[in-house]
Amino acid sequence: MDYLKTQGIDTLHGTIKISGAKNASLPLIAMTILAKSSVSMQNLPQVADIKTLLKLLSNLGATVDFGEDSVLVNTTTLTQTKATYDIVKTMRASILVLGPILARFGHCEVSLPGGCAIGQRPIDLHLKALEQMGAKIAIKSGYIEATAPDGLKGCAIIFDKITVTGTANIVMAAALAQGVTTLTNAAREPEVVQLCEILNASGVKIDGIGTAILTVHGTDGELLNIDEFSIIPDRIEAGTYLCAGAITKSEITLTNVEPKHLNAVLAKLEEMGSTFTTTVDTITIHPSQNIKPVRIVTQEYPAFPTDMQAQFLALATQADGVSIIEEKLFENRFMHVSELQRMGADISLNGHTATVSGKTQLGGTDVMATDLRASSALVLAAMVAKGETNIHRIYHLDRGYDSLEKKLEGVGAKIQRLSE
Ligand code: EPZ
Repeated sequence: MDYLKTQGIDTLHGTIKISGAKNASLPLIAMTILAKSSVSMQNLPQVADIKTLLKLLSNLGATVDFGEDSVLVNTTTLTQTKATYDIVKTMRASILVLGPILARFGHCEVSLPGGCAIGQRPIDLHLKALEQMGAKIAIKSGYIEATAPDGLKGCAIIFDKITVTGTANIVMAAALAQGVTTLTNAAREPEVVQLCEILNASGVKIDGIGTAILTVHGTDGELLNIDEFSIIPDRIEAGTYLCAGAITKSEITLTNVEPKHLNAVLAKLEEMGSTFTTTVDTITIHPSQNIKPVRIVTQEYPAFPTDMQAQFLALATQADGVSIIEEKLFENRFMHVSELQRMGADISLNGHTATVSGKTQLGGTDVMATDLRASSALVLAAMVAKGETNIHRIYHLDRGYDSLEKKLEGVGAKIQRLSE
């Protein structure tokens, strides 16, 4: 297994190119199931989760042709409608194929995704909405067996909680349904917005894009003509590198980024003392030499994202004072805390709230990644720790960061990928 060997350093300098968004790519890949011909997507990030979902589609009979940072997906050759446990267990977002396969073929079997390190991750809202649309759902031997022999019917759906992949799944199901579906309490993440915009441009009229109430006018089974598109930049990858600039007090510039997707993250970094120069697709961070403590509560977009919580917790160890970070979305998203404590961080946990006292000089040691964003928090801490830090189990990191160590090395970080 690979691990990252890092040396704490003084400062970084230069530019980092941001890749396409993992969490936009996944629903967009599932969306190709709704297409009547091949779909080409550009700016595809080279990360494990994308490869996993594309492997799932090829297992179902689709053809997948990779370019440099693009892919051509043809699902007209798709014959299977069962997403098996071996793949789904490695990537729970495989559940995103349920809505499109059911809408197109009238039947679908998907292994229950199971929980993951950060929480139980139920999918009850996905299933309840599909049943409201006329699907019959049964759970048998760990599989979801969904049928809709007469097709799905548009209806009024209200999500009890805001769910990102739940919104994507139902929007894709509604795209081919008979009639109109209104989805209230929909997720407004930029990744959901891009999915809606592309469907809308492909003949599925969608009103309310970017708001909490979506109205989807289904095509009644008519497959879609989907033109080539480019995946939006990854706002979480960008936020992670901004934290790298802040924690090492380095002025770095991100390119191929969408600043307006990062308003809540930039606001918190400004509260902690950084300032920014932005253009239409770049952000330069001007870090503060004295990092101020912060209060953070994770919420759905456009508020502060849970996917940036771990990175800010690492940054807060370098703030002069006490920071309070509350995780409101997931029940177990503080596994990076114990690893940071082993590096000397002064953090106390009380339920879903972490209290971080700084500033602490962290010390290098061996640490273990536990989930995707926790891994990046450990990289940030290692970059300011005294001495050498080895970060193990970085397959977690590879699920969602494209060439992280190469991008950081490119701006001067002492970081190497080795095999143990
Ligand atoms: C998406 O996960 C992201 N993944 C996650 O990013 C992100 O953390 C999360 O949204 C929240 O922003 C992808 O987009 C592939 P949810 P998702 O459904 O859709 C509860 C990363 O690091 N819920 O919005 O699975 C759920 O338990 C990953 O890139 C139900 O109760 O998250 C949670 O408390 C990690 N029932 C809350 O809603 C349901 O049926 C939000 O979950 C669905 C969700």
